[in-house]
Amino acid sequence: MAPNGHARLRVRLESITYGARDINVYTFVGVDGPLPAAEPGAHLDVEVEPGLIRQYSLLTVGEDPLEYRIGVKRDPAGRGGSVALHDRSVVGAEFAVSPPRTTFPLHPLDGTAGEVLLLAGGIGVTPLLGMLGAVRRAGGRVSLHYWARSLQDMLARAELERDAAVVLHPGGRAAAAVADVVRAAPADAHLYCCGPEGMLEEFEAACAGRDPDRVHVERFVARAPLSSPGRFTVRCARSAVDVEVDPQTSVLDACLKAGVDLEYSCEEGTCGACEVRVLEGAVTHNDTVASAERHDADRTMMVCCSRAAGSFLVIDV
Ligand code: FES
Repeated sequence: MAPNGHARLRVRLESITYGARDINVYTFVGVDGPLPAAEPGAHLDVEVEPGLIRQYSLLTVGEDPLEYRIGVKRDPAGRGGSVALHDRSVVGAEFAVSPPRTTFPLHPLDGTAGEVLLLAGGIGVTPLLGMLGAVRRAGGRVSLHYWARSLQDMLARAELERDAAVVLHPGGRAAAAVADVVRAAPADAHLYCCGPEGMLEEFEAACAGRDPDRVHVERFVARAPLSSPGRFTVRCARSAVDVEVDPQTSVLDACLKAGVDLEYSCEEGTCGACEVRVLEGAVTHNDTVASAERHDADRTMMVCCSRAAGSFLVIDV
C-alpha cells in the first residue's frame, strides 16, 4: 500500500541525522531519478510502515530536487508515525511518498511589504525553515521567532543562533510574547505561524484586526468529527453517480464505497489531499487546511471531514 494519491514516488532513506533532542532529520532521495520540486510550506505524505501514512513538512524547498528532507519529533503519545520512524526505520530502506503538496503556501512578496514574519512553536518550525530561505532568495525581508522548551530542543539551532534575522525563545512560551511579536509587525507584513494549538489560538487572537489575507496558520491537529443529524445525497457530477451519505459515514467513504475514485491521505482534515470542487449546495466545513470562508469563496471542500449543510450536494468528481 502507498499514499492514497494517484501519483506515488519511490524514495530511499539516504541518511538519518540528529536534529535536536528527540528530533531526527530524514533525507530521502528519488529511486527513479530527480524528484518533483517543492514550494515553501509544502509537505509530503510518507508511508512510514504499511498502512501508516503521515504528513511531514519539507525542511528545504526549491534548492535540491534530488532530495527531500523532513524533521520528525519522536512523540510517544502520538499516533505511531514518529515512533516508527525513530525506532524502526533504517538507512537504505525504500519508502513510498506523495509528490509535495502545499496547503500552507508562501504568498508572493508585494509592494513595500516584502516583509515576512514567521512564528514557530516546537516542531512547528519545520515548514517555516523552508520559508525563511525562500523569502531571502526572493529578496524579501524576513524574521523568525522560534519558541521551544530549551535551546537543546531547537532544530537547526547552531545555524539559527548565528542568524541575525532569527530570535530564539528558549524556556517555553509566555502568551504575551506571541502577542508582542505580532503587535510589533508592520500592518502590511505577511505573518505565518505553525506550532501547538494553544500558540495558534494566541496568534489568531493577536492578529484580530489585521488583514486576514496576510495572516496564515498551519494546523496539524484535526478538529472533532462533525456529527450530522440526517442523511444527505452527494451527486458526483463527472462520474454520474448519486451517493447516499448516512450520519456515521464520511462523504469520502461513501464515494469510495460507490466506486468513485478519490484522492485522500490523512482522513482527518489536515493534509488537503481530498479537496474537491463544489458545484452546488452548501457545506459545513471541518478541516484545518483552509478557513470556511476561503472554501466557500473558492467553492471547495474536503470530503474526508466536511459534510453537506443541507440535503443535497453536487461535487466535481
Ligand atoms: S484526506 Fe487529508 S484533508 Fe482529507
